[in-house]
Formats: sequence, structure tokens, C-alpha cells
Amino acid sequence: MTQRGQNPWPALPGGVLVAPSLLACDFAHVADEIAAVTAAGADVIHVDVMDGHFVPNLSVGPGFVAKVRRCTTRPLDVHVMVTDPAYYVERFAEAGADSISFHVEAAGNPQVLIARLHELGLGAGIVLRPATPAAVIAGFARQVDLVLVMTVEPGFGGQAFEPDMLPKIRAIREMVGPGVRVQVDGGIAPDTARQCIQAGADVLVAGHAIFDAPDEALAVAQLRQAAQEARGS
Ligand code: DX5
Ligand code: ZN
Repeated sequence: MTQRGQNPWPALPGGVLVAPSLLACDFAHVADEIAAVTAAGADVIHVDVMDGHFVPNLSVGPGFVAKVRRCTTRPLDVHVMVTDPAYYVERFAEAGADSISFHVEAAGNPQVLIARLHELGLGAGIVLRPATPAAVIAGFARQVDLVLVMTVEPGFGGQAFEPDMLPKIRAIREMVGPGVRVQVDGGIAPDTARQCIQAGADVLVAGHAIFDAPDEALAVAQLRQAAQEARGS
């Protein structure tokens, strides 16, 4: 039995959120991995969907999201790296996604897709590849719940953070104001998290920095510590 998703972003507490990316977890023990990061205090579970066309890699689809849905009550934040995101929206909603983030480079009409996600009761996220300038989303940036600034080229985990993205994070925070989440994804570890938060990000996606760490709870705690330092509290 699947459950329909709900927009998690407005309901989640303020402050910086930590979203472990399951792409880096041990797929043979997904339920255990989710339990471990949940116990460690993860706010959101990030699921990366790749179609082998929009990005040169394959990952998971709605069937996986439905299985993950049964393992956790944490919101499921589904990042779709596919050529035709509109085609899959209902299927991910039915599988139990709470929020879907799609690439602006792939969306025919982003505003139609944002409206559709909201009609379904889901959070709507818009994603920018590193080469996509912030200005591309200026016309509708305040209609989304989340803007995801890719800090690596999408498609693979474990890549090096691109510091050139920091001005874009700043520009997007200025564009959306305080009411929209700004998420960063790719090469996020305590030092890079600190820089992104100082630039205005408030949702940290982290794959290898959490799942490859000897102690996942410590890794989540270190990201939170970095967030507190960056906000000067
Ligand atoms: C990359 C994915 C990321 C990836 C991040 O295309 O969107 O979510 O899992 O992995 P790390 O944190 O290892 O760079
Ligand atoms: Zn992602």
C-alpha cells in the first residue's frame, strides 16, 4: 500500500536541513541505511532518479521509491534527472514522493509542471545544472518550494564540489527571498556545506560524506555543526 505524498517543505522546521542521498548507500541494505540516517537525525531522504539519457548514468525509478516509502516516515525528496520529467510525475507521486525536483533544462514548460506538482499536493523543486545561469528561473522562482543548485555536474556521486557555484547560490537566495528553500547537491561535506550556507543555502544533500563515513551519525552531526558555525550561532 503506497501513500500519496505531501509537500514537506513549508511544514518542515526552519534552519538548515540535512538530506542524505541514497545514491551512495548500500543498495543491498537500503532499509538499514535509512534507519541509520534517520536515527542520526536526517530531516529528508533524497532519491536520485537517472534515465541514462539526460545524464549518462542509470539509477532507480518509481518502484524503488515505493519500497523506500515503506521504510521511512521522513519526507521523500525525489530529484529527477530525466529528459521528460512531466511523463513521470504521477508515477512518482503514486509511489509516495513528497517533493519532486526537476531540471529546468529538461522541462518543456516549468510553470505547468510546478502547477501540476502542487495540484498533486507535492513540493515542487526546480534544478539548475552548473552551466545554467540563475536568470533562467527568474520568471517563476518564487512559485517553487525549493531551488536546487547543482554543485557538481549531475549524474554521479563522489565528485568534487565546484566553488564557482557559490555566486549562483547567492543570486538565487536573493531572487527567492526567505520563503523558498535553496538546496545544494554534489560534493557536500562540512567545509563545502559551510560555504554554501554562508551563500544562502538551507538544504544540504550529501551522499558520500554520510554513507562512506565510518560513523553515519557523526557525519550528520558534523554537517549540522558546520551549519551552526556558518550561521554564527
Ligand atoms: C548527483 C546526485 C547527487 C549525489 C551526490 O547527480 O544528484 O545527489 O548523490 O553525491 P555526493 O554527495 O557524494 O557528491
Ligand atoms: Zn541529487
